[in-house]
Amino acid sequence: MSQARLSNDERAQLLKAAMDAVKRAYAPYSNFKVGAAILTEKGSLVTGCNVENASYGLTVCAERAAVYSAVAKEGADMRIRAIAVVNEGGSDCPPCGACRQVIFEFGPDAIVIFQSHGDVEEMHILELLPEGFSRRKTNK
Ligand code: THU
Repeated sequence: MSQARLSNDERAQLLKAAMDAVKRAYAPYSNFKVGAAILTEKGSLVTGCNVENASYGLTVCAERAAVYSAVAKEGADMRIRAIAVVNEGGSDCPPCGACRQVIFEFGPDAIVIFQSHGDVEEMHILELLPEGFSRRKTNK
């Protein structure tokens, strides 16, 4: 947990990008539209939204869509500095357990920003996922 905190500008930029991504969500089954935005350690801003499917289990959350897109953009050494997650209605939207593990894989020191109790919460990934599973030597 060594990383510098986000500046107010960086936080605002991430939240705005996540809000924009919500508009592109495909959520006809749950009507729960989610947007995510990642700031990579190299400084790229990459977004994702949830994409559902008639075969419900194939749905991909916004966070994972953003992570995979960031890897596609920067390559296997992509690292997450921070990720913001928002939903359309403003209800609580902490990342699900599966997304926490995927965020941890590429962001063992990531800051996670999400809507909670009508506010914006900011937590280290290890607060959300204590003892996350890792096989990477670079995680700690
Ligand atoms: N969802 C996300 O995209 N991120 C989360 O953190 C929680 C859930 C999506 C999956 C599904 O499309 C919808 O929200 C309802 O679960």
